Amino acid sequence: LFAGAADFATAADKLESLPPMQGHEIAFAGRSNVGKSSLINSLTGRTTLARTSHTPGRTQQLNFFDLGGKLTLVDMPGYGYAAVSKAKVAAWTELIHAYLQGRANLARVYVLIDARHGIKPNDGEVLDELDAAAVSYQIVLTKGDALKKSEIQARLDATSAALARRPAAYPEIILTSSRTGEGIAELRASVARLLAE
Ligand code: GTP
Ligand code: MG
Repeated sequence: LFAGAADFATAADKLESLPPMQGHEIAFAGRSNVGKSSLINSLTGRTTLARTSHTPGRTQQLNFFDLGGKLTLVDMPGYGYAAVSKAKVAAWTELIHAYLQGRANLARVYVLIDARHGIKPNDGEVLDELDAAAVSYQIVLTKGDALKKSEIQARLDATSAALARRPAAYPEIILTSSRTGEGIAELRASVARLLAE
């Protein structure tokens, strides 16, 4: 599914320029700098497919990576703080929200949460929105390499507890690291299961 694919990419900075719907789409959402673009590169085994940066606000458009016509991965701009103008952030935040609530072929959203920080209020707002729109989502903890072993279980437990009352949440939480490759096989399996449904 992932090998050798993702050669065709489209970008959209407004609703009118979204590509036509084709097959399933899976979106990667999360706060700025959480590691969305890095995770897409790890998932596809490409190092430079999605552009990454140390500075929050790298991804400024919705980027669509077509995996052979069956599945499209969508790299999203981050919400929250970004090192660009407020007007820019406001424009793309509006686009993120419109896309997440209105895309008919959006099969799942992977909501990325920094394993060190857990679910923040603006993550909660996005989850509220996905619950309200009945869009299926799964939580992916990122940067697992930055946590001590003893901290990991506590973070997983706290995150599970926060999801318990959320109707659209997929119960399993995937702990990943784009640095070490931890959890990437699990994430690939999750995507494959979704397509088999
Ligand atoms: P925006 O597009 O700006 O919203 O950011 P993003 O969510 O796409 O994050 P990106 O993938 O650009 O990564 C942001 C920073 O986090 C970079 O400095 C990455 O090297 C770092 N990073 C990404 N994944 C990991 C990880 O698994 N572990 C660690 N330690 N750092 C990571
Ligand atoms: Mg990015």
